[in-house]
Amino acid sequence: MPSDPPLDPVAVLTRAGRLGFHQQDLMDLRALLDDGLPADSTRLEGCVERLRAGIGRLAVDGPDPWAELPDDPDQGLVPMLALLAVAPEVVGYQIGRGVEEDQAWRNLADLGQQVWVHRLTYGRFGLHNQGWLRMVWAGGFAWLGRLQFNLQRLEDGEWVLSTHIPRRGADGPDSDRLSAVAVDESLARAVRFYAEHFPDLPTTDFWCRSWLLAPELAAALPGSNIAAFQRRWLLDDHIGDGDNDAVYFTFAEQAPYDLRRLPRTTRLERAVASRLERGGHWPLRRGRIAQPLGCPA
Ligand SMILES: CC(C)(COP(=O)(O)OP(=O)(O)OC[C@H]1O[C@@H](n2cnc3c(N)ncnc32)[C@H](O)[C@@H]1OP(=O)(O)O)[C@@H](O)C(=O)NCCC(=O)NCCS
Repeated sequence: MPSDPPLDPVAVLTRAGRLGFHQQDLMDLRALLDDGLPADSTRLEGCVERLRAGIGRLAVDGPDPWAELPDDPDQGLVPMLALLAVAPEVVGYQIGRGVEEDQAWRNLADLGQQVWVHRLTYGRFGLHNQGWLRMVWAGGFAWLGRLQFNLQRLEDGEWVLSTHIPRRGADGPDSDRLSAVAVDESLARAVRFYAEHFPDLPTTDFWCRSWLLAPELAAALPGSNIAAFQRRWLLDDHIGDGDNDAVYFTFAEQAPYDLRRLPRTTRLERAVASRLERGGHWPLRRGRIAQPLGCPA
């Protein structure tokens, strides 16, 4: 791969376009690059080095690239620039494993999605999910149709295909719905993708940890895509606290939030808010799908 200087503005903007940045975010990134780097950009070099050292460490067990940065939702610009700087090397790693170049860029396009989610959540350009993106930049992550996946090593050493459900699009309720067809297709693509490109880390199960796996949610939304998705998973006994995830993923609001101010337009919004208002909780559940059973064709 040709390597551009890490922060050549033209190269960075082109890269951001390939990485799913929305138009408004591209404009703000351009302004940031034109204005010069944020004051704490001296930390950028260390972030870039640590991020680079993590490529290919699929268990994500190296030094934290963001270790020196304050934990604050408005401190995401340095991580964003580091992720943009290192992206071509992650793409190169996946190409080395036989992934098509366009697919390798697509796999990293969760950066653009997370920058958009930051705008939804805080109303401005930035990034707060750099902790998650560190895992994406390790190189074992793929965005295959409706769902995303990564190779994850569980505590007992077993590798699984961890499964992620990105938010539906900004273009209204019909954009990116979680249809059964789309889910089947993504699961089948994932089996093929990882068998072909990561044969050294074979897996037998999809694995997921999410508030969307709560049976209480399926019960509250009979006949919905969410209910059908939930029923695919064989749950274990672990029950975590999913209240903040439910509010964050439904309303793009971080704690502390005012339940009375949340909209009640859709069934999901009504279900999530009213359960919490009644003093109830949303559990976070873990589940598996055995690969051959989960993947017709
Ligand atoms: C998962 C997801 C894509 C499913 O979308 P979907 O296919 O439209 O879902 P369903 O058809 O089951 O929706 C059932 C109801 O909830 C509503 N709904 C679904 N997702 C919604 C969302 N993010 N915000 C508001 N309402 C939503 C639907 O409009 C529908 O209500 P209606 O009948 O009144 O219109 C969507 O809920 C979403 O984006 N969730 C956030 C992502 C997430 O939680 N990921 C897991 C992180 S661990």
